[in-house]
Amino acid sequence: MITNTELEQKGNAFPSNVISFRKDVDTLYFTTENDVALQITILRDGLLRFRYSTTGMFANDFSYAITKYASIGYNQLDIEEKEDCYSITTSKIICEVSKKGLLIKIYDKADGSLINQDELGFHWEDSYEFGGDIVKMSKVSHDGESYFGLGDKPGNLNLKGKRFENWVTDSYAYGKDTDPIYKTIPFYTGLHNKKAYGIFFDNTFRSYFDFAQERRFVTSFWAQGGEMNYYFIYGPKMTDVVEYYTDLTGKPDLPPLWALGFHQCKWSYYPESKVKAITSKFRELQIPCDAIYLDIDYMEGFRCFTWNKEYFPDPKRMVKELEDDGFKTVAIIDPGIKIDKNYWVYKEGLENDYFCKRADGPYIKGKVWPGECYFPDFTNPKVREWWSGLFKELIEDIGVKGIWNDMNEPAVMEVPNKTFPHDVRHNYDENPCSHRKAHNIYGMQMARATYHGVKKFSHPKRPFVITRAAYSGTQRYTSTWTGDNIANWEHLWIANVQVQRLAMSGFSFAGSDIGGFAEQPHGELFTRWIQLATFHPFFRVHSSGDHGDQEPWTFGEDITDIVRKFIELRYQLLPYLYTAFWDYTEKGIPLVKSLVMFDQEDVNTHYRIDEFIFGNSILACPVLEPNAKGRRMYIPRGQWYNYWTDELVKGGKEMWVDADLDSMPVFIKEGAIIPKYPVQQYVGEKKIEEITLDIYYKKGKEDSQFFEDAQDGYDYTKGRFCLRSFKLTGRKNQLVIQQHKEGSFESDCKKFKLQIHGLPFDVKNIQLDNETKSLEQLHSNGCLTLMIDENFSILDLNGGNEE
Ligand code: GLC
Repeated sequence: MITNTELEQKGNAFPSNVISFRKDVDTLYFTTENDVALQITILRDGLLRFRYSTTGMFANDFSYAITKYASIGYNQLDIEEKEDCYSITTSKIICEVSKKGLLIKIYDKADGSLINQDELGFHWEDSYEFGGDIVKMSKVSHDGESYFGLGDKPGNLNLKGKRFENWVTDSYAYGKDTDPIYKTIPFYTGLHNKKAYGIFFDNTFRSYFDFAQERRFVTSFWAQGGEMNYYFIYGPKMTDVVEYYTDLTGKPDLPPLWALGFHQCKWSYYPESKVKAITSKFRELQIPCDAIYLDIDYMEGFRCFTWNKEYFPDPKRMVKELEDDGFKTVAIIDPGIKIDKNYWVYKEGLENDYFCKRADGPYIKGKVWPGECYFPDFTNPKVREWWSGLFKELIEDIGVKGIWNDMNEPAVMEVPNKTFPHDVRHNYDENPCSHRKAHNIYGMQMARATYHGVKKFSHPKRPFVITRAAYSGTQRYTSTWTGDNIANWEHLWIANVQVQRLAMSGFSFAGSDIGGFAEQPHGELFTRWIQLATFHPFFRVHSSGDHGDQEPWTFGEDITDIVRKFIELRYQLLPYLYTAFWDYTEKGIPLVKSLVMFDQEDVNTHYRIDEFIFGNSILACPVLEPNAKGRRMYIPRGQWYNYWTDELVKGGKEMWVDADLDSMPVFIKEGAIIPKYPVQQYVGEKKIEEITLDIYYKKGKEDSQFFEDAQDGYDYTKGRFCLRSFKLTGRKNQLVIQQHKEGSFESDCKKFKLQIHGLPFDVKNIQLDNETKSLEQLHSNGCLTLMIDENFSILDLNGGNEE
């Protein structure tokens, strides 16, 4: 392994003195005596791109991560040459580039505080073995500075004091300290003096990040090839950093609403009668479920795009019958194509020269589930197009609704490095390279090709894809899960950390294998896991067949009842989650926020791990230990209602919260308006004419939104959505709710059932759209219920004159 050789200064070279500087619109070019070139592009006022070359020339500028839809544009750009540096000023930051060594310092323009500063800055080592450079960057790490992000790393949320490697790796039964695992997201957020900035090192080679581990005051990152090419993103709010990063690397489209329901998976449900037995049991026990998965055994000898006709004699009929019962079928597709001269996919791949080759010409041959395989080069646009086309039968003809891409690291069995050798060649969208450069994006490109295929053949409906391997930007195409975890309490903790971390790495549509993939959970662990995952964007039970059953009814009736209760809660919260998802697709706002992201001003949040905010207003905290009757947790600042009891608690402190096995700590932010559907067994089961709005009284003002559309399809992009913006104003004796509606979608909803929690006065007078109304008021458990027309503009509840 290449170590961070700064300490020894072994073989490191550094930029010397700047000898030329020029500006071309938004890009500044610096060159040094020893031919180092630095390009700084100003993308936004707080977003700069830094690119270094050690030969004075840059390679073709190409990235799989960056989307062409990123919002670019700045308000101010001034450059001043000073005695020892160049100073670049935008409306948000001042960036200084030293004339000696190209060292960078970035200040907040508003208050002049130093945000980020190079230590040794850019330097490099010549890579004789492979050619090119090992490119390195080191920056000053301040006392009290924290670091967050990097995708799916399974350890503590704060990355400080640790070194990480980025090389996507099949990691069966990984643990807290396993590194690297399935994903490479070389983006972190630094937080210092309550101000946040981000660094996205867009380099696909094997890379490393050292957060003040090797040296206490230094954070560095380096890669085994390619360019030092990174983006600096200034917040100062953490949410802004993540939003800008997500904007840069892409936001997904809305998923179909059913994809946010509950999914049941197993390796493997077969034959057809087993699949049907599972789905029927869900309906019999009235446990909501929207998707059933087919793992590798549905195929003929694990050949992708085939069916085992003994187990599944008529897939189209089966899929249709499942659909009639409200189940979407999701099928797995792996990258390895079985070497079999009678297999059409293999033949087509061979005829068209679509498989990856070794440097000296032979195809890369590797063992996966089907035995010896060849592997499509998904970095070739023609191969992606071919691959997309392969989904026609599965999606368009048979009616499968989602595709699950697995083993796409790519995983190879029985070889020491678990993947391709370095010399394998890739097209890399006409930028030919070796596997050293393409490895980290291979799975992403497979998911991309899959997404385009599923999208094309699902039209006019929306596609659903799930992937295991990912690089920055993969969130544009697919959802993801955290791979082969284990049924134990530590992995419940890990699942919580990983989903939070993925969300702050731009990848919100994520979940874990509920209950654990390897080994078998007992009922208590399974229940606690379902509770946590109720608040994860992707909600799927999955497990390996070797370890027994893992369905909601496996652990006895008591457990089944609790599991049902939480899955039902998820279905009630679907409109709330869908609205948050829409916000994510529009603005890149993470669906799940760690407390530090929710309130970075409060230093107590900087060290919290277990608690998180689901959407904007729900605080959830899983119980992570056996035999617990509750737990201590941190309640962030502000006032919060206990979801189960409506008790109002003042935050900014740690407290004990009761949570027997049938409960979990959940709080609602005061002032929130939470839209809820009635429980359905699957999305679309009922025509929903009455929607509940849970309104949590607050003294003061709060804004919230509720987004609806057809729950699938693309009409919402043409204005056919219904966006309701609510303004809540609470006074001692009055609660006013205003509604503003946008969009042309006609919701089925005719009535709102308002459930008002925590109202501190008795309502004497009700004004609806400026007319006095005598609405029936129902009181139960301290909660006031009113039925009103969904079209209201202003509702004014008054407690009469104050004494
Ligand atoms: C891998 C996947 C797992 C799947 C199995 C069989 O281990 O991570 O989810 O069930 O392969 O396809």
